[in-house]
Amino acid sequence: MSGIGILGFGAYLPSRVMTNDEWSEYVDTSDEWITSRTGIKTRRIAAADETTTDMAEQAALAALADAGLTAADVDEIIVATDTPEVYAPDTASFLQHRLGTRTVPGYDLGGSGCAGFVMALDIARSRVQCNGSTVLVVGVEVLSKLMDWGDRDTCVLFGDGAGAAVVADRPTTAKIIACVAGTDGSRADILQREVGGTRKPFSKEVAKTEDFLRIDFNGREVFKEAVRRMSASAREVLERSGVALEEVDLVIPHQANLRIIRSVAKTLGIDPAKVFVNVDKYGNTGSASIPIALDDARTCGSLHSGDLVLMTAFGAGFHWASGLVQF
Ligand SMILES: CC(C)(COP(=O)(O)OP(=O)(O)OC[C@H]1O[C@@H](n2cnc3c(N)ncnc32)[C@H](O)[C@@H]1OP(=O)(O)O)[C@@H](O)C(=O)NCCC(=O)NCCS
Repeated sequence: MSGIGILGFGAYLPSRVMTNDEWSEYVDTSDEWITSRTGIKTRRIAAADETTTDMAEQAALAALADAGLTAADVDEIIVATDTPEVYAPDTASFLQHRLGTRTVPGYDLGGSGCAGFVMALDIARSRVQCNGSTVLVVGVEVLSKLMDWGDRDTCVLFGDGAGAAVVADRPTTAKIIACVAGTDGSRADILQREVGGTRKPFSKEVAKTEDFLRIDFNGREVFKEAVRRMSASAREVLERSGVALEEVDLVIPHQANLRIIRSVAKTLGIDPAKVFVNVDKYGNTGSASIPIALDDARTCGSLHSGDLVLMTAFGAGFHWASGLVQF
């Protein structure tokens, strides 16, 4: 039997904690509104000089240490992020250099939003299957530097963070039993950052007239679609694995909104006590949310050796992905 799975994982969160009350200094909002609509109480904000590579590096080193490996053991790097170090080249290039790995292939999975990490995990699994490599997968976002701090519809939702996992084929891995993923581009405009691409390139005119950091989104539509797609893909990965929902010990859902998480649990019909939540502490950290939650679950004592863990994520695109891992 193949032992392809997660050999080690880890996370990094910037030290600055920002409360909901602090947001009311920037926009017309309140702790009551944010808490009741999202469940978020605090989020982490990167330091002024802290970049995507800095955070990715810390999470990668934690995951490598957890796996008992060093950068020298890495054969491939995948970075899932919507907030890259620079526009081009990709963050994986900077991370490769920073970690000092051999000149192994590295690439970003950009634009896959909050589903990025689980999608990257699935790709890593295939790469390991193909050539027996050891793949470093990172989910990292520094959303605070690329969002509009004056747009209350979006700014209060996000936080910065990074998480990473080492995927390899070893007897000691937490086996990845199955992954499923999907994309529905017909809904791309419901959650998008339009300016900066070829449709609306950066220009002096755009800088004057457009709010170029703006994230366009229809919160209610995203909410409904997130619940629908995360529940459906969670069911699909269970079916594909021949595993009953009752056998799952822990669900790690994407941490965007407590109400979305509760609705997914209700739709699936799973005991809410089995569903890990830390959106209250970190907000929505995009592609970093799943590995941060995994690391947090272990630290909090919610993840035990032998646990069957179901991860499910949803993000811009729309993209969604679910994975089943036997720890
Ligand atoms: C954004 C979200 C929290 C809003 O919750 P909601 O229950 O749909 O919000 P409501 O419709 O009840 O409230 C919207 C109202 O609150 C206002 N509002 C928006 N942000 C606010 C804020 N930070 N503080 C106070 N009021 C706010 C809006 O202007 C609107 O006012 P109006 O009714 O006068 O027009 C919710 O839709 C959501 O979580 N969506 C998905 C999040 C997402 O996209 N995540 C990223 C991808 S996973």
